[in-house]
Amino acid sequence: MDYAQSKTIDTAKLDALVGRVVSDLSAGYGGVMVSLGHRLGLYKAMAGKGPLTSREVAGRTGCAERYVREWLGSQVAGGYVTYHAISGTYELTPEQALVLADEDSPVFIPNAWSVPASMWADEEKAVQAFRTGAGIPWGDHDGRLYCGVAAFYRNAYKASLVPEWLPALDGVTEKLGNGAKVADVGCGHGHSTVLMAGAFPASTFHGFDNHEKSVIEARTVAIEAGVEDRTTFATARADDYPGGGYDLICFFDCLHDMGNPQAAAEHAARSLAPGGTVMLVEPFANDRVEDNISPVGRLYYAASTTICCAHAISDGGHTVLGAQAGEARLADIFRKAGFTHFRRALQTPFNLILEARL
Ligand SMILES: C[S@@+](CC[C@H](N)C(=O)[O-])C[C@H]1O[C@@H](n2cnc3c(N)ncnc32)[C@H](O)[C@@H]1O
Repeated sequence: MDYAQSKTIDTAKLDALVGRVVSDLSAGYGGVMVSLGHRLGLYKAMAGKGPLTSREVAGRTGCAERYVREWLGSQVAGGYVTYHAISGTYELTPEQALVLADEDSPVFIPNAWSVPASMWADEEKAVQAFRTGAGIPWGDHDGRLYCGVAAFYRNAYKASLVPEWLPALDGVTEKLGNGAKVADVGCGHGHSTVLMAGAFPASTFHGFDNHEKSVIEARTVAIEAGVEDRTTFATARADDYPGGGYDLICFFDCLHDMGNPQAAAEHAARSLAPGGTVMLVEPFANDRVEDNISPVGRLYYAASTTICCAHAISDGGHTVLGAQAGEARLADIFRKAGFTHFRRALQTPFNLILEARL
């Protein structure tokens, strides 16, 4: 069929779609530029400095001016840097600096590009996985995945976990203030564990993850933050970590990655102290595909395809939730594990913060 000649083609719809995919393609090229700007310190060299020439930006970063000038052009075209045509200078506005230069800002984005970079690097593994149905373990991905995920979530956790998310759970901050025992299951690089440990010195925090390299990194993160006296990290699965009597068991962005989330919820039920709480932080999602049509839904479904589902399949594949599981499916898992109380404590554009109690 000659699609171009077809009377069934709505040219307005076609133009809109082509505009959309070209814009997406442009963003993909832009991601490489964002990563370069971050790694070479170009954004940081411009932050708070007002209008600068390309020569000045190059001089501040020790980079070659011709490359910097072309990179600046790409940033101006994308709206990431502001150009002053009369003076031929480039400026990073305060808003642009928050997104591109300030690593402590909750909206700092450059590290997030490490995740799609790892997905491209691992594309061949994904092709094989689609063809064979086999899984891809979390630990088998390109190294940029771990730093990208950790850095992406760290700033959201830093801005919200202690001041907003924990207080949204019934009575949890009081317990933590008085001295509680906490498990952080699937802790990854331990940024959530360390943040909580920093805020609640009377409590003890135990991070568990079955990816050994992440556990080693989490110990370093804890030492650097000066909280090693109240944190431990161990390589363990979500359905067999040791200890019990936990007042709080946390799952940060990991339950849906597990091959048997049901077993993880059942182990949490066995490991909680009387009156204890499970804090479940999951990617934001509505319950139905048709209600997840958004940039955030698109991003999560994509990462879920080659990372989350692929890991869950490699981890036994009992229940492969995917990163867009939604509250109803998550609640069902906890109800089946014996939890009688399950509620949405908070939501953000990126996360659902859910509370479960026995
Ligand atoms: C997307 S990462 C999130 C890491 C961390 N919680 C965070 O928020 O940055 C998912 C983590 O779950 C861990 N994980 C997956 N399946 C697991 C299992 N069955 N038991 C323990 N950890 C698991 C992975 O190794 C990985 O570190």
